[in-house]
Amino acid sequence: MAARLSPMLFRSAMRSACRAPRPQLQLRSLSVTARRPSDTLQVHRNTPDNNPDIPFKFTKENEAVMAEILKRYPPQYKKAAVMPLLDLGQRQHGFTSISVMNEVARLLEMPPMRVYEVATFYTMYNRNPVGKFFVQACTTTPCQLGGCGSDVVVEAIEKHLGITQGETTPDGLFSFLEVECLGACVNAPMIQINDDYYEDLTPESVVQLLDALRQSATESSGALKVEVPKPGPLSGRQTCENSAGQTNLTSEPWGIETTRADL
Ligand code: FES
Repeated sequence: MAARLSPMLFRSAMRSACRAPRPQLQLRSLSVTARRPSDTLQVHRNTPDNNPDIPFKFTKENEAVMAEILKRYPPQYKKAAVMPLLDLGQRQHGFTSISVMNEVARLLEMPPMRVYEVATFYTMYNRNPVGKFFVQACTTTPCQLGGCGSDVVVEAIEKHLGITQGETTPDGLFSFLEVECLGACVNAPMIQINDDYYEDLTPESVVQLLDALRQSATESSGALKVEVPKPGPLSGRQTCENSAGQTNLTSEPWGIETTRADL
């Protein structure tokens, strides 16, 4: 009997132990960061120049380009062409508007949401209008440390254009953005303007470049043509060769006859 009662006694003892008042636990203080709505980048809001009621169609020339692009993909996987088609739409329209995305979705027979996902993920798609010259300055570590450093280049751009990053000049000519590594670190600091890279920059050379671009955009047809610097290094280098000239492999390399006197 005692043996049968002992599990019951044990259980009731455990229950009363559980019910017994426990010493107050020291509550850890939790700190939370301030809530920041992060939807500014991801949400589309209709505006007069970007809403689904604005019709968008590819031009005849771009339809031919599109047909060429689509040939690269098996017909059942044509939605894989979403990125080049969005790019084509952006080049035609000036930016990747909601109408461009909807048209690409229609052409590729994709749910529009799948196209929006791509367009909002990749920063190369501008979902708002940008200026005629879209200036993107790399501010990643090699560009911050290389040459005069990207900080002074960014400062010169902002001061000269009178805008800060994310803004467009009132005349609609320049938009400016700081970006991460553009893959030309060896010629740091550098910026990208539309499709071109300008490298080995200094505050002076970047200002000259911006002035030349502005003049080229505003000059009248009869006026003297402004010479816009060619893309690439603005330091006189051809590519990424040593600017101090050749510093090694300057003599005849040692051959076997130099190291072996017996031969
Ligand atoms: S860090 Fe600027 S191009 Fe790579």
